[in-house]
Amino acid sequence: MMPVLVVKDVSLARPMAEALVAGGLSTLEVTLRTPCALEVIQEMSKVEGALVGAGTVLNPDDLERAVKAGSQFIVSPGLTAPLAQAAKAHDVPFLPGVANAGDIMRGLDLGLSRFKFFPAVTNGGIPALKSLASVFGTNVRFCPTGGITEQTAADWLALPTVSCVGGSWVTAGEFDAEKVRQRATAAALLQQN
Ligand code: 3PG
Repeated sequence: MMPVLVVKDVSLARPMAEALVAGGLSTLEVTLRTPCALEVIQEMSKVEGALVGAGTVLNPDDLERAVKAGSQFIVSPGLTAPLAQAAKAHDVPFLPGVANAGDIMRGLDLGLSRFKFFPAVTNGGIPALKSLASVFGTNVRFCPTGGITEQTAADWLALPTVSCVGGSWVTAGEFDAEKVRQRATAAALLQQN
């Protein structure tokens, strides 16, 4: 399970990453949706055991800034050829968003086989992903995000083409380290089942 983080206050970066890692979640997506996001990536990257990447990466400039800040992977809500090429040029793992068969086909043409199914619930949820995945076989894998909850994550993870799920529920609400650690522990258990 990959927590999708929207961090507004850089002073929360370290304690938030520490609480997530302590709970068993080590792959952290920091969205570039707040002015301090790049600093948050730098701070979280200092936490032992954390693998920190950038999300909401919309274009090659975003990608460049995210990589400079220490991002170890890149997530995007969509897929463009310039962004995919920039990821390749920087040799950084890239998880672009797809919503339909055409998106996946463009991704395959660009040499990609791992996609974020986004926004997962609005796009038709599990039935939609099952139909899409059946066309492409098991070499194409998905990380659904968008509308997934602690209650529904296990259903998504049970799909053979789903490698992980993303979601913001682990850190939702006002930051409370203990609450985040507990939610992370529950989410980490999901991924082991
Ligand atoms: C994302 O960028 O993946 C989503 O904003 C996460 O969606 P959620 O807030 O519904 O979990």
